[in-house]
Amino acid sequence: MTPDARKEVLAGQGVDAGVERDPQRPVDPVAAPAEEADEAGLRPRALAEFVGQGQLTEHLRIVIEAALKRDQPADHLLFAGPPGLGKTSLAGIVAAELGVGLRVTSGPVLVRSGDLAALLTDLQEGDVLFIDEIHRMHRSVEEILYPAMEDFKLDILIGKGPTARSIRLDLPRFTLVGATTRTGLVAGPLRDRFGFVGRLDLYDPVELEAIVLRSAGILGVPIDPDGARRIAERSRGTPRIANRLLRRVRDYVEVRAEGTITGDAAVAGLDVFGVDELGLDKVDRAILDVLCRRFSGRPVGLTTLAQCIGEETDTIEDAYEPYLLQQGLLQRTSRGRMAGPRAWAHLGLPPMDATLL
Ligand SMILES: Nc1ncnc2c1ncn2[C@@H]1O[C@H](COP(=O)(O)OP(=O)(O)O)[C@@H](O)[C@H]1O
Ligand SMILES: [Mg+2]
Repeated sequence: MTPDARKEVLAGQGVDAGVERDPQRPVDPVAAPAEEADEAGLRPRALAEFVGQGQLTEHLRIVIEAALKRDQPADHLLFAGPPGLGKTSLAGIVAAELGVGLRVTSGPVLVRSGDLAALLTDLQEGDVLFIDEIHRMHRSVEEILYPAMEDFKLDILIGKGPTARSIRLDLPRFTLVGATTRTGLVAGPLRDRFGFVGRLDLYDPVELEAIVLRSAGILGVPIDPDGARRIAERSRGTPRIANRLLRRVRDYVEVRAEGTITGDAAVAGLDVFGVDELGLDKVDRAILDVLCRRFSGRPVGLTTLAQCIGEETDTIEDAYEPYLLQQGLLQRTSRGRMAGPRAWAHLGLPPMDATLL
């Protein structure tokens, strides 16, 4: 079957491509649309520009080099980690390093199996297909993906009722790159079909400092090392937040200070925007407040916690908890979430006496 005939068959099924050019819908209530363009400019384009995640990037380098040497598509890759740590950037980097095309979509926009079928048949040999939020893909769409990942085959059903028959099409060989906030959300059979699963961890302040300096360079913002360090310290281990805080501080120094981001100017600017010395924002502090004050240190169920602060449970788990856990501000117990030892001091409260609970 020729590619055109193939497309016709698919079009006959009412298929259209579920392509979304920019799948980035970060949990970011502060970012304005213009900043999304900024963010695209700040995205690292090559492994050498990607700061941190040393072990992961080393593994990727090997996977990519091996594929290039064999002149074959790289194995399917799954990236997992909290929002803003670089999963989408890595997908673009993989395609660039392999020297192949990149097609971008996301789990929730692939509504019918035909949406994915159309994308798959439209790939060029060796392309990277990036599916963001792959854990939110519909079951019926996921089933199309299994033979495609394993054998580069597409099974489609033609006709209806007793005359219906299934045909199997050859697909170009491709590399699937999936991103998810938590590996546990990806169904076992899907996870097993990835040749490589990379976990992204929160960045340490030194890495974030490097990212802030790099971004400031691209944006043309004058900054000194102390200013970069202050912003990095308050970025909750997350490059996207580091870039956002950099833009807020840039606004602040342009209006209220000399224009250069020094340590003092960074601290003053971040204070104005309600970012405290641990980088906690209003929602983080609301979480701690519920745990310490409202529930006096007793365990609180995730759903209750979410209702108290008016956020989705997923948002709490993906965007807020990782950093609070890492900082010893929150604990997950079998009975629910509890304030961590540091939470009390951070809120200016006396340490909780566990025997009172
Ligand atoms: N390792 C990194 N080095 C430099 N900048 C990074 C890095 N990781 C992320 N960023 C910055 O953070 C932003 C968000 O990253 P992104 O790849 O969209 O995260 P995710 O897809 O995991 O939510 C990017 O636009 C980029 O500017
Ligand atoms: Mg992303």
